[in-house]
Amino acid sequence: GCGGKEAPKEPAKETGKQDVAKTKLVVGADATFAPFEFTDPATGKYTGFDVELIQAICEEAGYELDFRSMGFDGLIAALQTNQIDAVISGMTITEDRKKIVNFSEPYYKSGLVVAVQEKNNQIKNFDELQGKKIAVQSGTTGALHAEKATSKDKITYFTSSDQAMLELKNGAVDAVVMDYPVTAYFIQQGNKDVKMVGEILSAEEYGIAVPKEKTETLEKINTALKTLKENGKYGEIYKKWFGE
Ligand code: ARG
Repeated sequence: GCGGKEAPKEPAKETGKQDVAKTKLVVGADATFAPFEFTDPATGKYTGFDVELIQAICEEAGYELDFRSMGFDGLIAALQTNQIDAVISGMTITEDRKKIVNFSEPYYKSGLVVAVQEKNNQIKNFDELQGKKIAVQSGTTGALHAEKATSKDKITYFTSSDQAMLELKNGAVDAVVMDYPVTAYFIQQGNKDVKMVGEILSAEEYGIAVPKEKTETLEKINTALKTLKENGKYGEIYKKWFGE
């Protein structure tokens, strides 16, 4: 039989590592927004400045990252219904959004710009967009700006920024109003038939959005962000994606 003897209880081995299961952080993004969040064509994996930043934040704060891509105009609703815990998606900190979600400290200075076809000599700045056809990404600050420039029936709304840019390349619209760094990256990636005109329209800052009630999550994200800015890790990721 078994002899009724109990195996002596061994003390837990000291491995120096704690085996505590990490808290999951479900983060939403619209991963069609290079160089912030997009699918690396070579690996099929999500990559970009935001992706690496949130990975570093999770590592620092002790979260296990669960990254999910969804349409940009559904991200805030997903936060409000607790489908996700946070959003990192090149999302501009705006007064309107601040009424319904909380934002981390800003992590990137951005702005909007007008893009037209390289061969277009008509539109030289934002003020010349009146009456012109504009493509935008739904739910973005770029869309709000386009609505100030021309009437809504001249604006075509797309789920992704790529689609808006394709519409411009195809000549179906005259212009796109979009985030400057994303437009610049797009052109730099070999889309020389597109150019930016005029000045950078609005000074914007990106933040990580969190549901109002998740104050502890926000605190942890802010603390981690601060540490990463101090210890050089933020700078490293920044340099990788944007140069000096
Ligand atoms: N910064 C703009 C905004 O907050 C556009 C962001 C779009 N982001 C994205 N991942 N598609 O409205």
